[in-house]
Amino acid sequence: MNGELRAYVKGELERYRLAVEDYILGTSEERAAGVPRELFESMEYSLRAGGKRLRPALCLAAAKRAGVEEEKAMPMALGLEMLHTATLIHDDLPCMDDDDMRRGKPSNHAKFGETLALLAGDALFVQSLEFPMAKLKGIAPANVLRAMHIFARAIGPSGVCGGQVLDIDAAKAKDEPDYVRRIAKLKTGALIQAAVLTGTALGGADDAALSKYADYAAHLGSAFQIVDDILDVTSTAEELGKTPGKDERDGKVTHVTVYGLERAREMAAQESEAAKAALAGILPEDDFLALLPEYLVHRTK
Ligand code: IPE
Ligand code: IPE
Ligand code: MG
Ligand code: MG
Ligand code: MG
Repeated sequence: MNGELRAYVKGELERYRLAVEDYILGTSEERAAGVPRELFESMEYSLRAGGKRLRPALCLAAAKRAGVEEEKAMPMALGLEMLHTATLIHDDLPCMDDDDMRRGKPSNHAKFGETLALLAGDALFVQSLEFPMAKLKGIAPANVLRAMHIFARAIGPSGVCGGQVLDIDAAKAKDEPDYVRRIAKLKTGALIQAAVLTGTALGGADDAALSKYADYAAHLGSAFQIVDDILDVTSTAEELGKTPGKDERDGKVTHVTVYGLERAREMAAQESEAAKAALAGILPEDDFLALLPEYLVHRTK
C-alpha cells in the first residue's frame, strides 16, 4: 500500500475515532440515568480509557456503504464498543488473563476492585444491547431487529463467550490442529464480524451482500488476532498499553506459540489478502474497508 492510501486509511480511522469519542461524551448523562454512581464510574472509566475504536469504525463504514448515515448508525457502533470494553474488563480479571494494565491505564479491577469490575463488565454487556435498541431511529424495524440478532448471537455462547472459554483450555490444542484458529474466530472474530454485519444489516442489505461481508470480516478478524498475538511478543507496554509477553508466560495457545513468529506473520498477511479478496465485486480496491486489513496487519498497537 502506498503512502497516500495509508494516510487515507489512517485519517478515516481517526475521524471515526473522534466521532465515537464525541458520542460517548454526548450520551454519558443519559447512560448514567438510574445507575449507582460507583457502578457508572467504573463502566465509564473503561469505556473512556481510549482504544482504537475499530469495531465502531467497521460498523459505521459498513453502514455507510449500505446507505445508512453515520449519525443513524452511531448507537449500534457504541453498543459494539460497550460490549468490546466489557470483554476487555473481564479478560483482564485475575481469574482470566490477570492483567493490571489496559489501554495505558490501570485495568478496571486494579482501579475499582474485582467485584465492581465484574459487575461493570456485566452492566456494559447488557447496556450494549439495551442502548442501541432504545436509540436506533429512522431505520426500518426489521433491519434493526436483524442487526440486533446478529450482534447478540456474536457475543454469546457460540461467539465471544465461547471463544473465551476455549482460550482458557490450552490443553485441547494438542488434540485439535486448528484449535488456535477456532479460538480466534470466536473470541475476536465473532465481534469484528458482527461490527461489519450489523452496519450492513441496518441498511437492509440482501443475503448475497451479507455473505460477502461475512467472509471479509471473518478473515479480517483472524488477521487482527494473529497480529495481537504477534504484538504480545514484539511490542512494549508503552506502545501497547497492556502488559506484553504475557501469552507465553501464561501458557496461552496463540498463533505465535503454535506456529512461531515468522509463520504467524505469513498467516496474518494471507488472512488480510483473503479479506480484501472477499470484497471483490462489491467495493472498489481502494475503498477504506478494502484497504483496512493490510493497514491493520502493519499496526503497532
Ligand atoms: C484487544 O482489542 C482485544 C482483542 C480482541 C485482540 P483491540 O486491540 O481492538 O483493543 P483496543 O480497543 O484498541 O483497546
Ligand atoms: C481477548 O484476547 C479477546 C477478548 C477480550 C474477547 P486477548 O486476551 O489476546 O486480548 P488482550 O491481548 O488481552 O488485549
Ligand atoms: Mg484473553
Ligand atoms: Mg488478555
Ligand atoms: Mg492478546
